[in-house]
Amino acid sequence: MGRTLVIAKPDAVERGLVGEIVSRLERRGLNMVAARLTVIDEELASRHYAEHVGKSFYPELVAFIGRSPSLVMVIEGPEETWRLVRTMMGATNPRDAAPGTIRGDLATEVTENLVHGSDSEESAVREIGVFFPELVARTAS
Ligand code: RTP
Ligand code: MG
Repeated sequence: MGRTLVIAKPDAVERGLVGEIVSRLERRGLNMVAARLTVIDEELASRHYAEHVGKSFYPELVAFIGRSPSLVMVIEGPEETWRLVRTMMGATNPRDAAPGTIRGDLATEVTENLVHGSDSEESAVREIGVFFPELVARTAS
């Protein structure tokens, strides 16, 4: 089994695309094991996107991710579920994202790219710990 952190970003909630995104994950055979609708404030963003702090796009990313609530989810499936979800999301820049992917079908701008998905097993564990520490503590014991 594998778990990954998926975020339906503010643009997804604002555009009413949360159902579409969750539906795609569920139809693929993945399950939601935790979810919270929350505003990702600056402090939370700096922990979640720690690897991007200081980059040129970081201020724009923080402003965007915190402008309205996101649906933060833990998604479970087979081994390497993080990879499965990344493939379903498509390229970071929707202009490069293949048709059939979430970004390739539903987005046009790199900042407003609808979804986040952990980019490795290590990132998944770390990011789940940022948003759902109680879950990591339970699975680690
Ligand atoms: P995410 O972390 O949100 O799932 O996206 P990702 O792995 O596909 O891309 P990543 O490199 O981790 O970048 C995080 C988010 O920052 C914004 N970004 N803007 N203007 C730019 O060059 C640029 N590069 C990245 C995107 O919103 C991306 O999702
Ligand atoms: Mg990333």
